[in-house]
Amino acid sequence: MAPEPFPTGFFDRADETPDDRFYAVDRLVTHIDDTAIVAVGDLYDELQLTGEVLDICSSWISHFHRPPVSLVAMGLNSIELAANSAADERIVRDLNVDPTLPFDDASFDAVTCCVSVDYLTQPLAVFAEAARVLRPGGVLVCTFSNRCFPTKAIRGWLSTTDEGRCAIVSAYFDLTDDFDDPIVQLRNPGAPGDPLYAVWARSSAANSSAG
Ligand SMILES: C[S@@+](CC[C@H](N)C(=O)[O-])C[C@H]1O[C@@H](n2cnc3c(N)ncnc32)[C@H](O)[C@@H]1O
Repeated sequence: MAPEPFPTGFFDRADETPDDRFYAVDRLVTHIDDTAIVAVGDLYDELQLTGEVLDICSSWISHFHRPPVSLVAMGLNSIELAANSAADERIVRDLNVDPTLPFDDASFDAVTCCVSVDYLTQPLAVFAEAARVLRPGGVLVCTFSNRCFPTKAIRGWLSTTDEGRCAIVSAYFDLTDDFDDPIVQLRNPGAPGDPLYAVWARSSAANSSAG
């Protein structure tokens, strides 16, 4: 049963085999076009993601124009993560099996999730963990386009529009304690290729255990 307010089946996928099988194939590729990739880096610059950052659902590229002070890359494929030259630490973890983040409270200035939020079957648990590991005022940034691995994306994502997908990610923030209201933007309006949407929110300092 999907958690309220999501209907039954919302988080189901066409391919319910373990994710580590699907992602065992090394994909040293880009999943969005160059303009969209630049838009991700531009957003990270604008949000000043220069400190300690956790990139979840990461691969060989984390899209920073300049790597932050430290970057932990978590994903499912160790070869892809090993090729991530911006990363200082790499962790393989299936967040659909174990949605916890193996870090102390208030460990990061930012958590990023690029073109991958659609693969999370327990996003509210992951968002709650992101809120926990963020420092007061830290930010969780989700970016996405209109492409995906359809057999591994949740049905709720596949059954809606780009605007609907922005609403889904906004709802994840709204349903998670300790985040301010999310900001939603199309970051590359008018670009001829892949649209790049971003939804982000800061952790509410007043509610953080770090005070
Ligand atoms: C489309 S790729 C995006 C990779 C990278 N973030 C980027 O921007 O190029 C999706 C990524 O999500 C990760 N992923 C998918 N399902 C996952 C899961 N259950 N747990 C952790 N990571 C997952 C995969 O390892 C893969 O690298």
